[in-house]
This record gives sequence, C-alpha cells and structure tokens, in this order.
Amino acid sequence: MNVAMILYFSGTGNSRYVAERLAEMLDDRAVAIPSVKEDVVDASGRSVGIVWPVYFWGIPTMVDEFVRRTELRNFDKVFSVCTYGESPGNASNVLEKRLRRKGINLGSQFEVRMPNNYVLFYDVPDSDEQLRLLNEADQYIDRIPEILADGEYKEKHPLMAPMVTAIGYPWHKHGRRTKRFRVTDDCDGCSVCETACQMGVIEIRDGRPHWKEKRCERCLTCVHRCPRSAIQIGRSQKFGRYLNPNIRFE
Ligand SMILES: Cc1cc2nc3c(=O)[nH]c(=O)nc-3n(C[C@H](O)[C@H](O)[C@H](O)COP(=O)(O)O)c2cc1C
Repeated sequence: MNVAMILYFSGTGNSRYVAERLAEMLDDRAVAIPSVKEDVVDASGRSVGIVWPVYFWGIPTMVDEFVRRTELRNFDKVFSVCTYGESPGNASNVLEKRLRRKGINLGSQFEVRMPNNYVLFYDVPDSDEQLRLLNEADQYIDRIPEILADGEYKEKHPLMAPMVTAIGYPWHKHGRRTKRFRVTDDCDGCSVCETACQMGVIEIRDGRPHWKEKRCERCLTCVHRCPRSAIQIGRSQKFGRYLNPNIRFE
C-alpha cells in the first residue's frame, strides 16, 4: 500500500501531528474530520486511516458520530491510530465495533503514547518528558507504513482493558457538560477560544466566552489554546498547558 487518506480529529495537536506525518509518508493528505460535511467519503481505491485521541478509554464523540453518519466508499483497507497519555484501555476496539456495525473491517489498530493533555486531574509532563515522549512517538509512527504493508496489526492490551473502558467511557459519552468550564478575570476577550473550538459551541459575548450548548467534546482545546490560561476546568488552575510543539495553530 502506498497511498492512503488520513482522516483525523485532534484537540491539542498530537493526533494532528501523527495524521500529517503519516499522510506525508503515505503520499496523501490529512483531512480534519470536523471539516468533512459530506455524507459520503469516496476513497478512490485508497486505504483510509482514522487518527484520534483516546478519551476516557474510548473514542471522541466527534469520531463516533462521523463513523455513524458517513458512508465510506471505494476504500482498500481501513486502519486506525489513536494517541493517548497513559493508557488507551480498549478504545481501539470501541472504534472497531462501530465500524463492524457498518460492515467495515478495521484491519490494523496502532496506539501511540504522547504527552497527556487531561489537565482536569493531572499536570502536563515537563518539557524533558514531553521531548522524550515525542521522540518515542516518532519512532513508533515511522514504523507504521512498513507494518501496514506487511499485513494487519493490533496492540496487546492488559486483561483489565475492556473493564476499564466499560466503566470509564460511558462517563465521557454521557457527561461532557460545558457548565463545568470557568473563566477567570485574566480573560481579555481575545476570542481565540471561539475560533479554536471545533464544535462551534463557544461564543464571545460582552467580551467573555460563553458555551452555547450544554455539552461539548471536552477536547480541552479552549483550555490549552487560551493565551492567558483564563479558561479553567476541574483542577486545571494548578497545572500547566500543552500544545503539540510541531503544530502551528492559527
Ligand atoms: C477528555 C479527555 C479524556 C482523556 N482520556 C484519556 C484516557 O482515557 N487515556 C489516556 O491515556 N489519555 C487520555 N487523555 C489524553 C489524550 O488522549 C492525549 O493527550 C492525546 O494525545 C491528546 O491528543 P490531541 O492532542 O490530538 O488532542 C484524555 C484527554 C482528554 C482531553
């Protein structure tokens, strides 16, 4: 296989970085899932890669809904690559199940460890640790094209992985309430959060961000992209911020 179509979702750039690097290696381009409005995606005989971050040992709602509503046509193979901070649980199998319902076989499932952006409970890794994780991730990503050409691939998971996903993932799927976001007085109404929100749920009103919907993806893009660290959620006030250093955010 030497051509592929890479579809990705990413909050803080890790999955976008993987998607763009893979697209370069596989002679194609990476397309952001939120930008795909068509009901039918025609791969013109190419393989399709789906790249996404693990959320609560499961898949982002954006990816789940995309798979449900979109008809993939004319593809060779379908493979997935998730990025995760500490443990992916059974997340790849969640996507595999969704695709199987649509009659699509998820051939290979790759899982890349990258810096953790979940600042509700944990701090982001320090800069040395970020570098170490990103270097290791590069080595992993660079092997993917060769592995894909050889056949199918799956990571081995601990025995507890399905249980962890069964307990943790519904929490994300049915939670994600926007009322948990707080805006501090450091906010200067710059509107970066409004532009960066891929769900389009943030609106600047009276110089402050407001969440228009009850739920969002909880990708934390707004929290990490805010230039003044003025958007908080959970214990994020105590912790640093993270954006993949290889991505230029506009
Ligand atoms: C809402 C949320 C839930 C997360 N859940 C997990 C998880 O269950 N396991 C894990 O290892 N990392 C988890 N993470 C960390 C991300 O999967 C990881 O940092 C990922 O690389 C971020 O990708 P992105 O930069 O493309 O958004 C979570 C992050 C967020 C925002």
